[in-house]
Amino acid sequence: MANLGYPFTLGVASGEPAPDSVIIWTRLAPDPFGLDPARPGGMSERPVPVRWQVAEDQRFTRIAASGTAQAQHAWAHSVHVKVDGLRPAADYYYRFTVSAPFKNNEMSAVGRTRTAPARESRDPVRFAVASCQRYEHGHFTALRHIAEAGPDVVLHLGDYIYEGGKPAVPQPGRYVRPLEPPERSCRSLHDYRNRYARYRTDPDLRAAHAAAPWLPVWDDHEVRENYAGGLPGDGTDPGAFLRRRAAAYKAYYEHFPLRVRPVGNGLRMYRWRPYGAIADFLLLDGRQHREPGDMLGRAQEEWLTGRLRDSSARWKVLVQPLFFGRRMFPDGSLSDDAWDAFPAQRARILDTGGGGLVVLGGDVHNHWACDLGDDSARPVGVEFVTSSVSSAPPGTDNAAILAANAHIRFHDGHRGHLEGKAGPEGFEVAYRTVEFVDRPGAPMGTAAVFGVEGDRLKRLDI
Ligand SMILES: [Fe+2]
Repeated sequence: MANLGYPFTLGVASGEPAPDSVIIWTRLAPDPFGLDPARPGGMSERPVPVRWQVAEDQRFTRIAASGTAQAQHAWAHSVHVKVDGLRPAADYYYRFTVSAPFKNNEMSAVGRTRTAPARESRDPVRFAVASCQRYEHGHFTALRHIAEAGPDVVLHLGDYIYEGGKPAVPQPGRYVRPLEPPERSCRSLHDYRNRYARYRTDPDLRAAHAAAPWLPVWDDHEVRENYAGGLPGDGTDPGAFLRRRAAAYKAYYEHFPLRVRPVGNGLRMYRWRPYGAIADFLLLDGRQHREPGDMLGRAQEEWLTGRLRDSSARWKVLVQPLFFGRRMFPDGSLSDDAWDAFPAQRARILDTGGGGLVVLGGDVHNHWACDLGDDSARPVGVEFVTSSVSSAPPGTDNAAILAANAHIRFHDGHRGHLEGKAGPEGFEVAYRTVEFVDRPGAPMGTAAVFGVEGDRLKRLDI
């Protein structure tokens, strides 16, 4: 046991910023793809003390907080520390150190985080939006650009991992780099843990986590494609699926700096994160609580409509995984897995929006922008849909979709992400693009910039 290698192979992360606190995270994994389920990350059953420091400067001369946390085997030796007593809208730097049972005294990379602004603040908020990063489909170059921009916060809309394995039939150009051995579909807790390890060994993903705090929501591929609530979506045994879902949720928690832990079979992901008087980020869970005819479940919908009604923020920002607005395909059909399958619940949400409503969406692997609501004479808000970081785009006829949906104002077919700025006067989103993901290093381009005027999209000069 005395010769374990470098333990911080999965990097560091921070998240869930409040004006006075943030969560910092790491996980000890000297052997990130270890095949023994009893030794996740190559670690034995023994708990390991992990020291942490938070400083006001990158050289750690002005320490703001420090302490020791126990990395436990039951949680794959992940560490979640809630750091209190911080100043609002301030940058901080953090790092972790361990000694025994490791060969050397080991130190993690340094992460940069930032607290949320104070409640009354009217300073602008700078954010990035990303979704759909299928590891085997390509490089996470968009995340590298997010890391270089160093926004106040990163909003991730889900499909953070994909549960599938190496395709049985080769798909040319779609298996650009290998999954962890044995390259199979995730079923067990150990499978999901090693899949997260595969993703976090990517240098661009590690950089994006180390550069800014994250507010993530999940979609389906963190568990299984097209699952709904407690049902797997393919008619197989719900009991077995619920155990698989619980394993996937546990592995999710073990790899994110969340404020809550899994309870029973569930993990509460819907939540409110205020950014001063400027933005209320309302983070939604479109999967866990799904019922027939109802995407969010009753409790989450009541929570959301209550929050929308009570919000006094300039912008109410729904952070959620799917295409929210209506999107009719050229043959007149609608998606049966996204909001178009739940029009009554969508209409109730739009009815309570009450001005300043902005929806962020993903899932469809292309950039889109649309005005929301059925009545073009009565604008109710706008939606910005981010493309995928790396996941291959669908074969949809996007020109025909634009032609069939007058309220959809923009499409771009590149991989990429969004960069946004919310302020007292305006809400602006830039559609960032990369030309290729089959190799690293694509430069960043900008396909369009949109603002919001009178709860409608307004195209701006790049
Ligand atoms: Fe996706």
